[in-house]
Amino acid sequence: MDRSYDRKFVVLPETVIVTGVASGMGRAAAEILASNGVRNMGLIDNNAEGLAQTAGAVEAKGVKVHAIALSVADRLAVHAAFEALAAKFGAPDSLLHFAGISSRVPFDEIDDENADTVLGVNLKGSMWVAQAALRQMRKASKAGSIVFTGSVSARRGPVHGNVAYASSKGGVNTLTRTLARQYGPYNIRVNAVSPGQIYTPLLSKGWGDDADVIKEKLRVREEVARTEVVLGRIGQAHEVARAAIFLASEASSYITGEILEVNGGFHFD
Ligand SMILES: NC(=O)c1ccc[n+]([C@@H]2O[C@H](COP(=O)([O-])OP(=O)(O)OC[C@H]3O[C@@H](n4cnc5c(N)ncnc54)[C@H](O)[C@@H]3O)[C@@H](O)[C@H]2O)c1
Repeated sequence: MDRSYDRKFVVLPETVIVTGVASGMGRAAAEILASNGVRNMGLIDNNAEGLAQTAGAVEAKGVKVHAIALSVADRLAVHAAFEALAAKFGAPDSLLHFAGISSRVPFDEIDDENADTVLGVNLKGSMWVAQAALRQMRKASKAGSIVFTGSVSARRGPVHGNVAYASSKGGVNTLTRTLARQYGPYNIRVNAVSPGQIYTPLLSKGWGDDADVIKEKLRVREEVARTEVVLGRIGQAHEVARAAIFLASEASSYITGEILEVNGGFHFD
């Protein structure tokens, strides 16, 4: 499959920050952007090893890379990182924020630690990276685009007992709309992709290391998807990455405050 972009249609930003790049959608987005002419890339993840691997793959495509290992839940670290990135590349044109964690704890068993962790990474983490990016964009009087990652579970209700997770993503949707309203006058667009079931390490979390068990669990998921998802299958990381890149690019210049469902028809109004 040709995963490249039609550059005549999609004018990609020059300087991009991508979070959650050690695996899944973030890694797919970083690689697609690198293959399609983005010049400077700030890469962020708390998995230092995976981060270094993605940075190496992106650099090999001729992109200037600055990779920083941190947790997006750490506000001060996020601000310091975005300042370092701006010192190196200038203010970002786009931020694609994929970093996130899942959590499957029955509602009755959610405690402070679980709620704080999930909301801290998914919701507060989204606030911190946006705050830091917007600060740099405004300082440079630069137009820009921010893309968050929500989840179908925020609209549909959680499927696997992930109430804290779905609630954090509901917060991301609200953050998307409120920031879009607040920063539209500065020509900064704020949108989100809202993935359905996408085959990444996040989906298979808790399936263990046994290849046969993983294969069987995936088979069951795919079987369910054949009836529950209009397109009849689970999605792939690059399919969400492409949608996010569309929202980050000039091709979506008149779109803001939008939560773009990328779920194969698993759920729609
Ligand atoms: N896979 C799905 O089915 C699905 C569905 C809906 C939404 N999402 C959302 O998509 C986004 C990407 O997930 P994915 O499926 O690619 O999962 P993934 O686990 O493959 O990737 C998530 C990345 O975020 C990084 N990360 C986690 N916590 C972090 C932190 N505190 N600071 C910095 N980096 C951190 C991880 O190391 C990893 O590289 C997430 O926000 C997730 O909630 C995924």
